[in-house]
Amino acid sequence: MKTDQGRVADPCVMVIFGASGDLTKRKLVPALYNLAQNGLLNENAVVVGFARRENNHDNFRAQMTEAIKEFGTTAFDPSLWERMRARLYYHQGNYDNPDDYNRLAALLKQLDKEWGTNGNYLYYFSTPPKSFEVISDSLGRTGLAKSGNNAPWRRTIVEKPFGHDLDSAKGLNRRLLETFDEEQIYRIDHYLGKETVQNIIVFRFANGIFEPTWDRRYIDHVQIMVAESIGIEGRGAYYEESGVLRDMIQNHMFQLLSLVAMEPPISFEADSVRDEKVKVLNAIRPMRPEEVIHNTVRGQYREGIVDGEGVIGYRNEPGVSPSSQRETYAALKLFIENWRWAGVPFFLRSGKRLAKRDTQIVIQFRDVPHLLFRGSAEEQLEANRLVLHIQPDERITIRFQAKIPGPTVRLTPVDMDFRYEDLAGSSPATGYETLLYDCMNGDSTQFHRADMVEAAWEVATPILDTWEALPPRDFPNYEAGTWGPDPANDLIGKDDPDRRWLNPNFP
Ligand code: BG6
Repeated sequence: MKTDQGRVADPCVMVIFGASGDLTKRKLVPALYNLAQNGLLNENAVVVGFARRENNHDNFRAQMTEAIKEFGTTAFDPSLWERMRARLYYHQGNYDNPDDYNRLAALLKQLDKEWGTNGNYLYYFSTPPKSFEVISDSLGRTGLAKSGNNAPWRRTIVEKPFGHDLDSAKGLNRRLLETFDEEQIYRIDHYLGKETVQNIIVFRFANGIFEPTWDRRYIDHVQIMVAESIGIEGRGAYYEESGVLRDMIQNHMFQLLSLVAMEPPISFEADSVRDEKVKVLNAIRPMRPEEVIHNTVRGQYREGIVDGEGVIGYRNEPGVSPSSQRETYAALKLFIENWRWAGVPFFLRSGKRLAKRDTQIVIQFRDVPHLLFRGSAEEQLEANRLVLHIQPDERITIRFQAKIPGPTVRLTPVDMDFRYEDLAGSSPATGYETLLYDCMNGDSTQFHRADMVEAAWEVATPILDTWEALPPRDFPNYEAGTWGPDPANDLIGKDDPDRRWLNPNFP
């Protein structure tokens, strides 16, 4: 994480593989536009959309113009867009056809001349993952992957999912590393582009008062929740292969976990931060099959009501088998085996079609050691709690006890609340701005390193294996629009009945 934000990114050509997909029009082009509006995108940044579909420059430009009007998050500025529009190109090609890469090389050379992009190329792999390897190989063979010492640079952003399990992730890493050096590979996780996620590290390490209590002596447990009210949004085929553990937990949620649990890095340099994050993942005790049974709960939604509207069950979604055993909800209890966290459970849960969209991290502190106020009207003293609300309501809340004014000692829990909006107004963004900007500047702090992805799969794979060996017998087991299956409540309350999920205010 560089702190000298504000410099204009290097000039480059960004080649988006899979440019006819949703990501380009919904996120990438609007994000580039926002960067341009903030003066952070180089005047000479050029985009080449590479995809199989027949298309041409003019039509691609027209499509992206529509897209920026529909999905842009900031006011449309016609003269700024006119400049960007002229820098958009389309290259039709097959991902495995050498000729199409030779033609790409010729186009890139021409663009370097035309726009002064200095031979800097940013490749964005936004295709289905089965094409990642062949694209990487082909770029290598065409001589388009080699970086110079300083310039030109060649970098590649690889979208998720990165592998399907530990073996496939290792295989993909090996294959990419045959063409690119680790420093050139940016494995993206859009959660790391969220302001509130980036703030976790600032909250912890730019403030002196939290760190001394940030361990097993003061913290009872940690809850991380990523709840979604949406379903699978027409992605039945993908979701049948993936499920929530692969889709959300192995990547986004393990990243949140490692930011909360990591040791202070020695600097904000990419590898210092990532070294500490990977240590957390390596310290999570992988579960044996009997532990998977006790420490995880999975679920699948049936029909129900979300936001006042009736919605269908998972098994009725297009592209989903009517007897599907794929999980759309999961809750896990994990332990991080190191001095700081020994014995502190980390409860993670995520699901589709839950009651509300909400991502939050709850740091639940221990009870006070001695109940001085026993006998006062308030018997149920609540322990302190810190909640990092990641989205959509971006804020940080600390709960503590206060005396209710009056002649007798009566206590009540109160909240101290910091809202992001009060600091900076609302800043509509796609979430990809920082990540694209960082990559163009060679800062990989907010991207996964090979060992991080593998460490995360080391934890997820035994769970997936056990689940596969023991198919669920009770699916579908939660109603859409609720907080998930009942056994998840038992999971958190099993060792201590005072522990319960903190559900956001609902509705
Ligand atoms: C994606 C998942 O990575 O993240 C989706 O594939 C999910 O299934 C999405 O809906 C959630 O992202 P966000 O930013 O809306 O929380």
